[in-house]
Amino acid sequence: MARINDHYLKLAGGYLFPEVGRRVEAFRVAHPDADLIRLGIGDVVLPLPRSVRDAMHRAIDEMGTEEGFRGYAPDQGYPFLQQAIARVEYGSRGVEIAPDEIFISDGSKCDSANIQEIFSPEARIAVPDPTYPVYVDSNVMAGRSGPADANGSYAGLVYLPCTEATGFLPEPPDEPVDLVYLCSPNNPTGSAASREQLERWVAWANRNQAILLYDAAYASYITQAGLPHSIFEIEGARRVAIEFRSLSKSAGFTGLRLAWVAVPRELEGRDASGAAVSIFDLWKRRHATKFNGVAYPVQAGAAAAYTPEGQAEVRELVDYYLANARALLEGLGSAGLRTFGGINAPYVWLETPAGTGSWEFFDRLLEESSLVGTPGAGFGPAGEGYFRLSAFSKRDRIDEAVGRIEKLRF
Ligand code: MLT
Repeated sequence: MARINDHYLKLAGGYLFPEVGRRVEAFRVAHPDADLIRLGIGDVVLPLPRSVRDAMHRAIDEMGTEEGFRGYAPDQGYPFLQQAIARVEYGSRGVEIAPDEIFISDGSKCDSANIQEIFSPEARIAVPDPTYPVYVDSNVMAGRSGPADANGSYAGLVYLPCTEATGFLPEPPDEPVDLVYLCSPNNPTGSAASREQLERWVAWANRNQAILLYDAAYASYITQAGLPHSIFEIEGARRVAIEFRSLSKSAGFTGLRLAWVAVPRELEGRDASGAAVSIFDLWKRRHATKFNGVAYPVQAGAAAAYTPEGQAEVRELVDYYLANARALLEGLGSAGLRTFGGINAPYVWLETPAGTGSWEFFDRLLEESSLVGTPGAGFGPAGEGYFRLSAFSKRDRIDEAVGRIEKLRF
């Protein structure tokens, strides 16, 4: 029999969302008539913007002609899309990211899981707690942790608590680490980092020769003026950060798949002898070997999201979900629950009623209200006592969800 990667056996339980799905399915089978409202996994529900659809139709038609046919896409992405992203997402905010520092991909989930491959198996990793589970699981799979304890904390990983006292965002660790995953606006807590917080992180990373793996997949949800949308808005970040961005939650691409990684040319790691090595070159090398590019029609659709019409349509989508988040915040507040996030993010983070564990709260909402959310403990030990509701739903379902929660007695 073939020898397996034993590190996979350390993974505590299943991946969070399939486990949520399993419980929901069991409930559905037991209550086939229940009117389920799903505010669990953050998956968009509104149709694709017209400008995106039109561009994709045109791209498909083009590929049906002799002169317009295209085979493999360039593995780093078509320059027309890299240029549109560099101009709209970075240049317009005064940020210096060159088009060819942008690596187009099929999703931030894969990117944030794959990035660790270019670093040493001995690299010390810090993750926010609670966190997007992919950061933890991908490092466990790669052998950078010991086993999990009863709370689900893996030996060897450094957990950075995101509590009410820290504003539900992590603070720099006081021990040396090589890589830190940061996510702002944060999944799951819905908090967004201020300029001062990010300046502290960049200064810390420069002092400690660490690299920040900055996931800004929800950047388009930032509503408060002055909050950075990119880590590269911070002076010195080009020497210490890699950024992950995505069109999933902004232009509705969860089904189409399009994201990117921005890797500045100055960013360096070191080899076994201590000599500096370009991270850009390593990531480029990995990308070229393991990825064959995103489909041309999808990239054409993504570029259309960066036209003035596309940008207006994206804004409308984001505003719709943000209005949902506001309705959730108001409704939960009037039901007597303490809430966080939801202003610069499509996620509302709520404190479970005193003494109620987050999976217990999940089961109660499901059983009593046919409502699906995500238990905080699924995002890490410090998520216990909290619960995440996603604003990605139709407005009438959000209002119905709020009504059901208001009827519950906490
Ligand atoms: C979430 O619900 O946390 C996200 O949808 C997961 C993802 O983007 O992969």
